Amino acid sequence: MKQITSSVYSVGVIDWNIRNFHGNTFITKNGATYNSYLINDKEPALIDVVHKGFEEEFIKNIREIIEPEKIVHVILNHLEPDHSGSIEYMAKVCKNAKFYGTAKLKEGLEKYYNLDIQINVVKTGDKINLGDNTLTFVEVPMVHWPDSMMTYCAEKKVLFSNDGFGQHIATTKIFADEIEQGLIDKAAKKYYANILWPLGTMIERKINDILKMNLAVDYIAPSHGPVWRKNVNDIIEKYLTWTKNSVANKAVIVYETMWGSTEIMAREIVRALSEKNIEAKMFDVAKTDFAELAYEMLDAKAFVIGSSTHDNEMLAYIAGFLHFLKGMKPKNRLGLAFGSYGWAGGAVKEIAEKLSSFGVEVVAQAGAKFKPNEAELKACRDAAFALAEKMK
Ligand code: FEO
Repeated sequence: MKQITSSVYSVGVIDWNIRNFHGNTFITKNGATYNSYLINDKEPALIDVVHKGFEEEFIKNIREIIEPEKIVHVILNHLEPDHSGSIEYMAKVCKNAKFYGTAKLKEGLEKYYNLDIQINVVKTGDKINLGDNTLTFVEVPMVHWPDSMMTYCAEKKVLFSNDGFGQHIATTKIFADEIEQGLIDKAAKKYYANILWPLGTMIERKINDILKMNLAVDYIAPSHGPVWRKNVNDIIEKYLTWTKNSVANKAVIVYETMWGSTEIMAREIVRALSEKNIEAKMFDVAKTDFAELAYEMLDAKAFVIGSSTHDNEMLAYIAGFLHFLKGMKPKNRLGLAFGSYGWAGGAVKEIAEKLSSFGVEVVAQAGAKFKPNEAELKACRDAAFALAEKMK
């Protein structure tokens, strides 16, 4: 039994083996959890259900506290199937419950599933009384989908934040402060980078709206990963930094190479940036998953992208990565395009154009025929120096 605070329990499930969350872009090396919370009051309430396939474990967790038939209220904070996938089963088991969600949740739920339940549509400020506790709903569209909402329990000072402030990490620990700091910080930042980065402007607005409500919050209980208990303001501050696209004096070099020449250029660029005291990290896109790259690039001032030319174009993995990166809608970034070619070029120009197409200011370009010679390596260094100068 996992207790958050008096009468509030964590009853969700742990997915130890998931490695590709919602498709193949978010590689979840540490697994994930699909959280659900039970408030055992006079009228017991369940907040969120879990991913399909985990129903047995989920019910077992609930039964440690009460029989599911006794649940009076089921709150559905978010439609996405990692939180709603077991709803057909749960609707049958929680046969005496009323169900709640936003209008958009209702619309999507009816399309996704065959359900014989009524969704009570709620909006910001609506409340339900459980007995000793009340739940207040706060719509948070685009944290993470248009249907999303959070639920607040004033008496226990718990904000059930759904996707907001989540982390993909499979653990039996209940609280974030029970986990090694570096691990939990990375999980939270990686989650933001991969799930929420493109939505930063709207998330910042919603966080500020919630802050203006002056809710007393001792616990932030997300739908993924452990609960924030101590210094909840720390994770809120981190979010406000990320939503602003705040950047560090850091360059991330991502490249794809056919015969090693583009990698030689990448190494020379890293060397030159380091000489200018810029933190530089390089990654072969064919050997590093996109989720890790998004995590590294979230706060990088400079995106340095390289590819060999093949058939007058950049290589396929780097092209896929740039497509992915564009979707993140990064702001305030500088770029450098580089790469080698054989009989004809094309990749460097194509990379520069692609970066520019989503607002990256391309400061310099560098190319090399076959294998970079001294003059071409110098061109890489000069391009890196130009970038470093602009980063000041
Ligand atoms: Fe965890 Fe947007 O679903």
